[in-house]
Amino acid sequence: MSSASAKKTSMPRNVAAEGPCGSANAAICKVAILGFGTVGSSVARILTEQKHAPLRLTHIYNRNIRRKKVDWLPADVKWTENILDILQSDADVVVEVMGGLKPAEDWIRRALSAGKSVVTANKQLIARSGPELTRLAAKMNRHIAFGASVAGGVPVISGLQEGLAGDELFKIHGILNGTCNYILSQIEAAGTDFNQALAAAQKLGFAEADPTDDLEGLDARAKLAILARIGLRSFVSPESIGCRSIRGIEPVDFDYAGQLGFTIRQISRAELQGKRMLATVRPALVSLASPLARVQGSQNLVMATGKFGGETVFGGHGAGGHPTAVAVVSDIIAITRVEQGRAHDLPVLPEGSPSVSADFTGRHYLRFTVRDRPGIIASLAKIFGKCGINIDSLLQKPGYLKSSLPFVITLEACPTSALDKALTQIAKLDFLVKPCLDLPILD
Ligand SMILES: NC(=O)c1ccc[n+]([C@@H]2O[C@H](COP(=O)([O-])OP(=O)(O)OC[C@H]3O[C@@H](n4cnc5c(N)ncnc54)[C@H](OP(=O)(O)O)[C@@H]3O)[C@@H](O)[C@H]2O)c1
Repeated sequence: MSSASAKKTSMPRNVAAEGPCGSANAAICKVAILGFGTVGSSVARILTEQKHAPLRLTHIYNRNIRRKKVDWLPADVKWTENILDILQSDADVVVEVMGGLKPAEDWIRRALSAGKSVVTANKQLIARSGPELTRLAAKMNRHIAFGASVAGGVPVISGLQEGLAGDELFKIHGILNGTCNYILSQIEAAGTDFNQALAAAQKLGFAEADPTDDLEGLDARAKLAILARIGLRSFVSPESIGCRSIRGIEPVDFDYAGQLGFTIRQISRAELQGKRMLATVRPALVSLASPLARVQGSQNLVMATGKFGGETVFGGHGAGGHPTAVAVVSDIIAITRVEQGRAHDLPVLPEGSPSVSADFTGRHYLRFTVRDRPGIIASLAKIFGKCGINIDSLLQKPGYLKSSLPFVITLEACPTSALDKALTQIAKLDFLVKPCLDLPILD
């Protein structure tokens, strides 16, 4: 396994200064920013402080612009709340860091149609409309880059697109949501319950007031859809990727997982199997020996597996203004290199949508919480037997009340669909105090 966390898109040290970005005899690449928030202000900071690339910030767009103005930007930067000032300007690259689907998509289309290249950090938009926007950019002989849309400052998109272009990747998995990782590593380290860990994450700014998209896997599945498109060369819609919440994970699950040599993380994984793609975002047991187990707090990690090169790992800050802005500025530099003819063109992605399924085959960890009485294991074993599933081990820690007794069953490898059938029958059993927690074990 090789570590590629330092594999950033190489930044040109001596960019030729002959003419504007996009034309053969030009020099300075003029940049307009849409959205002066966390990422937008960091992009502005880097553009004005960096000295190694001929990039000039010319425009900043935001609603209610007066409240956004800062005194550390050059006086000639134009602040505006009229989008036409950007679309009709001489900016070469428009950076979209407003977020949301509307009006961002419309304005990106209009910027491309006006002959500008676009850099965006907008994962939901790229996961849904990336292929169409890439086609529009190609039609206009311009570029759209979205390296900041997955894993913030970790150069995973350029790593897959360029660094691993020579391999045939068939599997991508990793930790793509810093909020879930922060919460799970808090439960693991401090033994706090889920709600306390969520409240701490919200207090520290690692989780939003409404954390639904993060906890339920909707944020990570948009990123996984983008990685599948770039790395596995297959278009999958985010909605076709099955998600499971991390709610329901308790400190006792870390105790049991630890006893088995594992810990718990929210894992996004996509794997090509012939013409079909298996893809899910869900909490899973990962071996304590895996790099995934060592990802703490809000860090991100992506592992790409290729037919020839084996596993490559990309890791680092998955979010935050400055790390994300670095990815945005790296994209602008990559576009200037391409448009000034100093690098090969950004890859055109192939068409094609495989059928998507969540039916991975593997071992599973099941945590039951029951009102104890004789015959419980026999009832469960009967259902598993009927569904063709073998029990591997049974774990029960002492010290719990018989009225709410947690114990764990691990299963030998079986298809998720067979397990789901068994769990539907198990859910009807009257000794369950709460629904069974089912986590795949990633060996
Ligand atoms: N923050 C991160 O760590 C991170 C990491 C990776 C990717 N991203 C992505 O980067 C993008 C920006 O994130 P952020 O954290 O910088 O968000 P943010 O702090 O909320 O900034 C967004 C900015 O855009 C402005 N804006 C939003 N909608 C607008 C509209 N319709 N018209 C005019 N102005 C509008 C907002 O103005 P108001 O102040 O008026 O709301 C705000 O100044 C998102 O797509 C996000 O998913 C962020």
